[in-house]
Amino acid sequence: MIIAVDGPAASGKGTIAKALARHYKLPHLDTGLLYRAVAATVHRLELDPAREADAVAACDFDELALADPVLRTDEIGQLASIVSAHPLVRASLLRRQQRFAHQPGGAVLDGRDIGTVIAPDANAKLFVKATPTVRARRRHAELQAHGSTLSFDKVLADIRARDARDSGRSAAPLVQATDAATLDTSFLSIDEAVSQAIALVEAAR
Ligand code: C5P
Repeated sequence: MIIAVDGPAASGKGTIAKALARHYKLPHLDTGLLYRAVAATVHRLELDPAREADAVAACDFDELALADPVLRTDEIGQLASIVSAHPLVRASLLRRQQRFAHQPGGAVLDGRDIGTVIAPDANAKLFVKATPTVRARRRHAELQAHGSTLSFDKVLADIRARDARDSGRSAAPLVQATDAATLDTSFLSIDEAVSQAIALVEAAR
């Protein structure tokens, strides 16, 4: 069984994907981490994220790089949304994601284009969303817990900028697959969101 979980930044898709993987005992891939690893490599090598050739050169990152906590920072998230707009970067990460999705027994993947590009054949597709304010509040609390002093307004502005880039790009933009079920987590607790996600997967499979 392949479960595709897509949605914008801080919508709750990562938490939901992890919980679904636990529930169905499936391996899970956070595909955002791949783009973040490319972004972190661009940053470390002082390459230009807006240049496709520079970003492609950074796609050859070490597997171990995926465990680095620096990938989770807001700065790397913004950079990731710049490098991920390059078609050749997406192409270079495509096969790895498709292999993960189609391993025997199935998998859960979360990202922006799982249900549309990586695994259009997924058995269940969820599109997780929440209002920008709610998402910024969550991200702000999470960043504060990790010692960041970024203001709420800056976090909200960053979320809006990332939404605009992810939805506006021509290569695999963030769009809901026509056969994906919507899960709006704006006013749900984590437990509520997870049980609704399980119910939607059950209805789809
Ligand atoms: O999900 P996360 O916030 O970690 O993703 C970081 C960035 O990577 C996103 O803003 C998006 O631009 C890009 N991304 C993507 N396709 C995916 C996953 C992430 O373009 N499947």
